[in-house]
Amino acid sequence: MQISPATAVCGILLHPASHTRSPAMHNAAYDALGLDAVFVAFDVPPARLAEAVAGARALGVRQLAVSIPHKEAVLAHADEVDETARRIGAANTLTLANGRWLASNTDWIGLARALERETALSGRRAVVLGAGGTARAAAFALRARGAHVSVLNRTLERAEALARDLGATAAGTLAALARLDYDVLVNTTSVGLSRDESPVAAAALRPGAVVLDVVYDPPETRLLRDARERGLRGIGGKWMLVEQAVEQIRLWSGKTPPSDVLARAFDEARGTTAT
Ligand SMILES: NC(=O)c1ccc[n+]([C@@H]2O[C@H](COP(=O)([O-])OP(=O)(O)OC[C@H]3O[C@@H](n4cnc5c(N)ncnc54)[C@H](OP(=O)(O)O)[C@@H]3O)[C@@H](O)[C@H]2O)c1
Repeated sequence: MQISPATAVCGILLHPASHTRSPAMHNAAYDALGLDAVFVAFDVPPARLAEAVAGARALGVRQLAVSIPHKEAVLAHADEVDETARRIGAANTLTLANGRWLASNTDWIGLARALERETALSGRRAVVLGAGGTARAAAFALRARGAHVSVLNRTLERAEALARDLGATAAGTLAALARLDYDVLVNTTSVGLSRDESPVAAAALRPGAVVLDVVYDPPETRLLRDARERGLRGIGGKWMLVEQAVEQIRLWSGKTPPSDVLARAFDEARGTTAT
């Protein structure tokens, strides 16, 4: 990579930053597209978020990806929030336009495209496990693609609030999965992240369904292993991460990088980062 006075600077705001593979993915995409740009990680604790966002604006940073724990708090620091990020209640992207930060959400697009690698979504019965920020992006994505969405969550009140906001049905706690018929299952709980546990019993997995686990480390979670062993099609969280980044790059540069380039960079960065 050649750095010039014209090199565009982009980055990711997160805390802690040790685990991120976003710089590897974005820089590989810039290379593939021939963009004069560089992407770096900014480890910003919550107390410094406002300063970081204002400082990056002043420096002319072209885009900031926004990750845990800032996705909800960042809405208050953007100059404008697009309609989708407002409905989801979280943004994972700030893009500079005329010196102003526009907050948007590409997680939902990443999730929809990851699922669409294996199945059409219109008219399908989908179940979302979880009711946090990622669950809200999932429910939005599935509704936008014409699916019927049921939400299950450990804390039922949160499932009910999500369902009200996003046109889904709150169908109970996680154990209720055994009673439901569904074509698509999306896990957005953090169960399975670095632990060999599944949020649901293997016996509740419906033959023929497609299962997406948003957790990307390990690459095959217990849920995906259970799904594979029962003959269901599984999709790892890597593809959601890759596709949401593809959309971020399109937003600031107007160019769409090949997903495979980002996926390869993600795989190669494993072992050089904590996750
Ligand atoms: N692949 C990607 O591109 C991508 C993008 C974004 C996020 N993610 C991943 O998505 C996951 C969720 O992120 P988030 O921001 O939505 O988190 P969040 O807002 O904190 O929500 C966490 C959810 O997990 C549930 N949960 C946590 N521990 C549980 C347990 N032991 N048993 C049952 N349920 C449990 C919570 O239930 P309660 O409501 O009962 O607490 C809540 O529904 C993280 O692992 C994150 O890394 C992946």
